[in-house]
Order: sequence, then C-alpha cells, then structure tokens
Amino acid sequence: MANTLHRLVKFTVVAAIAAVVGLLTSVPSSADVTPFVVGGSRATISQYPWTVFLSSTSGSQFCGGSLVKGDKVVTAAHCVSGRTPASTRVVWGREDKQSTAGIVAGVTAIWVHPDYRTATAGSDVAVLTLDQSINSTYLPLATPADTDLYTAGTSTTVLGWGTTSSGGSASRYLLKATVPLTSDETCQTAYPQYSSLSMVCAGFPEGGVDTCQGDSGGPIVAGGKLIGATSWGRGCALAGYPGVYSRVASYYDLLIEQIGV
Ligand code: ARG
Repeated sequence: MANTLHRLVKFTVVAAIAAVVGLLTSVPSSADVTPFVVGGSRATISQYPWTVFLSSTSGSQFCGGSLVKGDKVVTAAHCVSGRTPASTRVVWGREDKQSTAGIVAGVTAIWVHPDYRTATAGSDVAVLTLDQSINSTYLPLATPADTDLYTAGTSTTVLGWGTTSSGGSASRYLLKATVPLTSDETCQTAYPQYSSLSMVCAGFPEGGVDTCQGDSGGPIVAGGKLIGATSWGRGCALAGYPGVYSRVASYYDLLIEQIGV
C-alpha cells in the first residue's frame, strides 16, 4: 500500500518534471520566434481584399480561399470534400478573426474536382458558390498562357490565417509571406508524389518561410493572378521540403466552367 503510494508520488513528480522540460524546450524564446504563416508578417485585408477564409457555422476558421468573382471562391478540394454547403461559411473582409468585420456569406454549392481523391494525388481544387455577390475586387486566375508565372524563381505571395509553426496554433490575423517558386526538379526530388501537371511548389532551399496547417485553399499569387491554392507539404518551412500548391492554370478551363466569365 505505502509502496504503491510511494510509486504514485514518484510517477507524478517525474511526469511533472517531464511536462516542464517539454514546455521549456517547445516554447521558443522571443528571439527565435518566427510568427505568421511561417516566417511571414501581418497583411492588411484592404490590400488583399480577395483573400477569404472558410469557417464552420460556429465561426471557426479551417481553411483559406480566394474570391475570383462576386459569388465564387476557389479553394482546395481537401478543405471542402465531404462538407455540406449548409455547414460552410465564407468570411470576407475580416483581417482579425476575433473581430466581426466584413461579410459572412453562406454557401449554396460546393464543386470539387471530380478526379480529387487526396491532396498528394492532385486535382486539389474546388469552387464554392456564395449566397450573395460580394462587392469586392477579385483575383483573376492564371491561364495556361501564363507560363512565365510558373517559372522557377518567380516571387510569389502566400496568404492565410493558418498556423505559424508546424503543430502550432492558428493565427488570429491575416498573414502573408513571400516565397520563390521552386523548379519541378527540386520539388520532384523532395516529393515522389509531385506532379508538375497538377501542382507547383514554393519555398526557399533553407526553409523558414511557408504556408502551414489552416492555410490550405488560400491563395498563392504571382503577377497579380491566382496561380495556386495551398495544398500540402511535409511539415512546414523545413529545409528541402517546399510547400505544394494546386496549379490553377492546369485547371483553368474546368474552373472557368464553374466560375463563369
Ligand atoms: N494541408 C494544409 C492545410 O490543410 C496545408 C499545408 C501546407 N503545408 C506546407 N508545408 N506548405 O491547411
């Protein structure tokens, strides 16, 4: 009995020490914090008015998206596959998730690319139809003629309210980061599943800047056009593992069929 109690106390003390050590090692000091997307900074919604987020009916943000017409949003298929329009909201004009700024639109239809199975297999694109037309500037899609926008080294902007580190917590504010597109070879080397037909990759060789969980579906922009939707990656911001984005130009015709002109 006393022995059991003794062991229990010992176990508790050891567990408490382990928890404290775990906390100390996992919480970065202010000097090495890389806040925002990962390695990004605050973005104003007025500068990126076409950046929207998807939320549940209770208001919790789970993905990003891009307004490409008054009532159409491009996002990732893996964000909305299996969801009902009734359970999905699109929030426009709200930089701070804790504010009530902007518009919360309902969704009347969800189109998921018919070939979509998993993000790593490609076809990770979807179009949401809103229950209203939002009076905002929207982002044009990259077309198959925009090959220059997909050249390795092209500087892109990624945006979202996702986590600011792998396994971290989501951002309260809209964040943006600048990342260069990688070559197809670089991405293929990182990921055997990479396909230059359906995806494009972005990131620095040394990592440090990337989209992360919760940014999915959100925009990657080059030359003022939507060139991709945040899709997947190994961890976030790791050296040698760029972020993978759905290649919008590859789906141009299909998307335009859904969006209208
Ligand atoms: N799949 C993630 C999401 O659902 C996006 C991950 C992007 N990862 C990356 N390393 N860029 O939000």
